[in-house]
Amino acid sequence: MATSIPEVDVNSRLKGRSFTRVADLDADELVRVLDLADRLKELQRRREPHPLLPGRALGLIFQKPSTRTRVSFEVGIAQLGGTGLHLARGDLQLGRGETIRDTATVLSRYLDGIVIRTFAQADVEELARHADVPVINGLTDSAHPCQALADMMTIRERLGRLHGVRLVYLGDGNNMCASLMVAAAKLGLHFVAATPSGYEPPREVSELARSAAAASGGSVELADSPEQAVRGADVLYTDVWTSMGQEAERERRLRDFAGFGIDERLVQLAGDGAIVLHCLPAHDGEEITEAVLHGPRSAVWDQAENRLHAQKALLASLIR
Ligand code: CP
Ligand code: NVA
Repeated sequence: MATSIPEVDVNSRLKGRSFTRVADLDADELVRVLDLADRLKELQRRREPHPLLPGRALGLIFQKPSTRTRVSFEVGIAQLGGTGLHLARGDLQLGRGETIRDTATVLSRYLDGIVIRTFAQADVEELARHADVPVINGLTDSAHPCQALADMMTIRERLGRLHGVRLVYLGDGNNMCASLMVAAAKLGLHFVAATPSGYEPPREVSELARSAAAASGGSVELADSPEQAVRGADVLYTDVWTSMGQEAERERRLRDFAGFGIDERLVQLAGDGAIVLHCLPAHDGEEITEAVLHGPRSAVWDQAENRLHAQKALLASLIR
């Protein structure tokens, strides 16, 4: 018996494109993906099958650990009617010196799309240049665009809008901060990054975000006082202080980030109605307290769920 596919609005202009960074999509394209994500979430809630990618194969190259990204992509491609193939660190000849170019060329003969989590952003971009299928960045040292997409979905779902929302990021100006900043700026949010001195996001990312904000009506601000930054916030956001690969710096970072953790006092300063996001994994008592993470203002668990829906929308849009 043939399965009927529910009516969904997939932007065919994105077919075949890669998503290595938020800037790969313009604001309208991002919104179309978010709209599709909402629709796919609704279909999944109703357990209505939506096999938009029947028989497609997605390779998942993971050179760093992952709970959410790996599981949500594997489950997501299955819900779309395709298959996910997990390729862990050490599984590929890439680890024994086969070039990124040759790997991209060969994998493109088997796969319809590739998700990669690795260290250098340049490696993801090189893979995308040589692959004939879309390449999706599942996190690098400098970007985490799939998370930023799910974050925008969560903010819109909770607050009913993106334009004009004051989003305050506290902590390390890292990969997460960079992707969030660019997504926020493109979609007209007022983004504030409050970081200790020396941990600001890279200047070129702030500049890119500022020019995107100038076009969208949003804004980008850097700050160093958590107490001042959180006032009037609609969303408080944080991420770990020690990212994957930085473990040797952990003790110094714990000292340098003191005072930047989200606790109930900072949430109260933000004012009524502010929600709290964290991309996870969380370190209780460091960048966020357990009471806030599991408290009434936390939208963190919906945010984690939305990785699934946002990435399904991305896959359905990019994969031919
Ligand atoms: N937020 C996120 O990417 O989580 P994982 O590292 O578990 O994939
Ligand atoms: N900044 C974190 C994000 C984890 C999802 C890291 O890179 O480890």
